[in-house]
Amino acid sequence: MPADDPYRDPTLPVEERVTDLLGRMTLPEKVGQMLQLDSRGDLKEIVTGKLAGSILHTSPQKLLEAIDLAAGTRLGIPLLTAEDCIHGHSFWPGATIFPTQLAMAASWDADLIERVARTTAVEVSATGVHWTFSPVLCIARDLRWGRVDETFGEDPYLIGELGAAMVRGYQGGGLTDPTAILATAKHFAGYSETQGGRDASEADLTPRKLRAWFLPPFERVAREGVATFMLGYQSMDGVPITTNRWLLNDVLKQEWGFTGTLVTDWDNVGRMVWEQQVCADLAEAAAAAVRAGNDLVMTTPGFFEGAQEAVANGTLDEAGIDEAVRRILRLKFRLGLFENPRGPDADRQAAVIGRPEHTQLNLETARRSLVLLRNDGVLPLPAGKRIAVLGPNADDVSAQLGDWAGDSGQVDWLPDGHPRELTETVLDGFRFFKKDEITYARGARIVELVPDPDGTHFPDGQPRPPVAQGVPIDEAELAEAVAAATAADVAVVVVGDTVALTGESKSTATLELQGGQVALLEAVAATGTPMVVVQVGSKPLVLPPAAVEAAALIQAFNPGMRGGRAIAELVLGAIEPTGRLPITVPRHVGQQPVYYNQIRGQHGRRYADLSQEPQFVFGEGLSYTTVEYSDLVLAQTDLPPDGTIRAQVTLTNTGDRPALETVQVYVTDLVTSVTWAERELKTYRQVQVLPKASITVDLELPVAACTLVTADGRRVVEPGAFELQVGPNSRDRIVARFTVTN
Ligand code: NOJ
Repeated sequence: MPADDPYRDPTLPVEERVTDLLGRMTLPEKVGQMLQLDSRGDLKEIVTGKLAGSILHTSPQKLLEAIDLAAGTRLGIPLLTAEDCIHGHSFWPGATIFPTQLAMAASWDADLIERVARTTAVEVSATGVHWTFSPVLCIARDLRWGRVDETFGEDPYLIGELGAAMVRGYQGGGLTDPTAILATAKHFAGYSETQGGRDASEADLTPRKLRAWFLPPFERVAREGVATFMLGYQSMDGVPITTNRWLLNDVLKQEWGFTGTLVTDWDNVGRMVWEQQVCADLAEAAAAAVRAGNDLVMTTPGFFEGAQEAVANGTLDEAGIDEAVRRILRLKFRLGLFENPRGPDADRQAAVIGRPEHTQLNLETARRSLVLLRNDGVLPLPAGKRIAVLGPNADDVSAQLGDWAGDSGQVDWLPDGHPRELTETVLDGFRFFKKDEITYARGARIVELVPDPDGTHFPDGQPRPPVAQGVPIDEAELAEAVAAATAADVAVVVVGDTVALTGESKSTATLELQGGQVALLEAVAATGTPMVVVQVGSKPLVLPPAAVEAAALIQAFNPGMRGGRAIAELVLGAIEPTGRLPITVPRHVGQQPVYYNQIRGQHGRRYADLSQEPQFVFGEGLSYTTVEYSDLVLAQTDLPPDGTIRAQVTLTNTGDRPALETVQVYVTDLVTSVTWAERELKTYRQVQVLPKASITVDLELPVAACTLVTADGRRVVEPGAFELQVGPNSRDRIVARFTVTN
């Protein structure tokens, strides 16, 4: 080991190595370390020209080349490689693609989600990718937003629990665990609170509202040890998130003690110039971003020149860059990348990518993600029925995998998506069980892509994405489906949306089923054949009466590679329905936002022309039996602020099928010093209730969880009267009162 190269000496403490290396770096080398660039560009220019410290969207073919290029730079600083492996290793051919985050959230099962993340990390870490941009901890409130599928739904507590589990799964045994990958808490914070669902618009959030509902999931995972945070895109009260020092510094670093690494979102620094127009040029934007405490700057190549210019013209102190680079280098040393760049490992890949245990876990997750919302008794289907499998999403791989998978549009090296045989569509699922009695007709299409009437390119020369337009009914196709339904004992109609209606910059103005889908549902309903509707879609949609009044209705979201099998199993009664909605389903797009934990106080409870009641409430979901709740008893009704609420409730399974019941515990603070949520989920338990059995469930909740955020932004428990509400969903609850004493 050369004596003048202490940073290369693994026996030295990390801080010493960082200081040594930093001392050797030129300003361009430091600024380059802060860059995270898109590998689909010219890799040589990215690594040896811009001296980028990190890359993303690197194809399997380019990964090794990138590592070699970095090793050949003057100081040989290894790269941090990142990818959006958000429900599996999204863009690795043949990887296990799980249900989307929203679908997984319907399981309400943190242990299951931890296992999913662990499995993803095992696959990802074998491929030379160090870092996943997951989990999303945004709160989904306006369903028009295009990224609802990436969230765990609408409830801060549930999001925090599931997010923390995902972080544990990804990060495994810690930074030195060779199967661990870095997790990302994103998008920090408030990005989902759009105006009218418009992606990345200014969010109408105050610091108090952030503290009340939007920050708690992030604080939860910061305390869980998440390695990185990614910013959102939006501005709040005039301040772009990229320069929000209060959030990045005062809250995240000072209050929560986060010492990890920050990454901006895509071209946030550039957007301050060309989109938000709060900076005149990249030098000004780069200086502002560094001063606010950002570390890695995602895909703003001009940050390289901009930051150097800002130092030269005196608007940016190089010490700010040093601090950011220090945090980036610290992470690289801790990961051991200087000793082992953790590149792709072909043997490990052969052993782990898509291995049977992983697809088995995928099937288990898909089963748990399905929510039965309506059943007039048609399900489970008895043996011997002729089944017509119909609808545009009955045999559609991409609708099943959802966004951020294969050919969903973010990368260019999987033009045909994942190998077809790895995904079981709903049709495949039914054929697996009942080869001879299945007929299939698509019946309708959803959308097609047409050129944007404003032209093929934006004024700056970027290509304009096409527009998704509903496909009109094709009478012949519809007639084929009607004939199949008429000849069958049961019609399973699989409707929903597509990736063309999902994702970044793909918010929707409506939530209705597009194309010929409503006509298909109405026509099948008119045949009189009992209809089972399955909604395979990225988010809750507004369903027409034909679907809501169908014999059965299943919400599947995007259930992943094994989703079709799981849906067939559910319909045929091979498994029990266990999922519960992590998000409210509206009756009409105009009810937005319709989340359950609304703030108290408004005139009346309905619109002049429509009820405010949602179609299906948060937490809702049926079993193939009925579980009754009774005898909610509190051990003690007067409790000190540091006490624990202990309660028991009796659950009785009145039917002859077992149930996995999600016992949900909500709290209402009856009088509050500020307006506050009507009720909030505070904890829940999942318990098995055998047929005809009655069980007593013990519930425990610290009084310290019964908080609100005061007008001046403090989270406190206010003494006084409360209600503990226990039930199978956020609407059907039994209640017991308690008092928090002074
Ligand atoms: C932009 C998205 O908002 C973010 O979620 C993602 O991780 C990055 N692009 C990288 O693809």
